[in-house]
Amino acid sequence: MDPEILIEEAFRMRRFSYTPYSGFKVGAALATEGGRIFTGCNIENSSFSPTVCAERTAFFKAVSEGETEFEAIAIVGGPEGAKEFDYCPPCGVCRQVMTEFCEPDKFKIILAKSVDEYKIYSLAELMPESFTKKKMK
Ligand code: THU
Repeated sequence: MDPEILIEEAFRMRRFSYTPYSGFKVGAALATEGGRIFTGCNIENSSFSPTVCAERTAFFKAVSEGETEFEAIAIVGGPEGAKEFDYCPPCGVCRQVMTEFCEPDKFKIILAKSVDEYKIYSLAELMPESFTKKKMK
């Protein structure tokens, strides 16, 4: 999957971000191994803890439609009204959700400031020594 397509989708999705409390708007676009794209935005809540990140929204949409094999995710985030973006790395909870479904050395995490400026990490780089289902055997 072309990183630029995923980044564009992440920016498009960021517009739907629901953030009355933080004003920090995040969009994500997740590519399956089969080439489908599932998008997500962060959705906040007045009770705070039910808030869900953009990345998990995308993963849960995909898994709830039967997809469990993933190639890459693009993430973009910044304050409401931002004209320029810094990189928005996934939070620890989202990294743990990625760990459940993705190959650490193969899955790519694309952090983007724009469609032209981005960095690609493997999940293993961002989530070393992770706790996985293999550890429970
Ligand atoms: N957020 C995400 O959507 N993804 C991340 O990886 C970092 C944080 C959201 C959650 C909350 O709505 C806002 O950003 C501020 O933490």
